[in-house]
Amino acid sequence: MGTARVTTGMGTRRATHTDPAAILAAAKARVAVDRHGVHGVAHWARVRENGHRLARHTGADKELVELFAFLHDCCREDDNSDPDHGARAADFASSLRGSLLHLADERFELLFKAIRDHELGFTRADVTVMTCWDADRLDLGRVGVRPDPKRLCTAAAKDRDTIDWAFRRSRTA
Ligand SMILES: [Fe+2]
Repeated sequence: MGTARVTTGMGTRRATHTDPAAILAAAKARVAVDRHGVHGVAHWARVRENGHRLARHTGADKELVELFAFLHDCCREDDNSDPDHGARAADFASSLRGSLLHLADERFELLFKAIRDHELGFTRADVTVMTCWDADRLDLGRVGVRPDPKRLCTAAAKDRDTIDWAFRRSRTA
């Protein structure tokens, strides 16, 4: 899908856009844990929505935030802490480059870092990376944990109304 050919006035060239739906499909095909569990597709959808909400304030790269949402937990082997699931997912993202994932090196490096390190608890990074991490951490209510502002990265995510909104929504999901 991401390598469709496009006819232009200059002839035919390879399209180089990334189709988020194709990335989501690839992530769903890869996932080994319960798709309906705490790290499944509904979680990815809430991370995506959280990320878009935060990006309006942080200026994060929205396409990268969306790709992060779909990919970051797709290589889990269990629903516990599962060390290195971030590194596995980052490698999976690398494997999609050139077929489904078309990003310049600089943007791919941001996505790779966001995915690889999302499980490590860091709070300082590029604003797009921090927005990705916050989007994920704002969904902790699904496992009964209220997001702690000290463990969030951006002012937008630390905002009390945002935490309240995300917590309520994740609890009722
Ligand atoms: Fe997650």
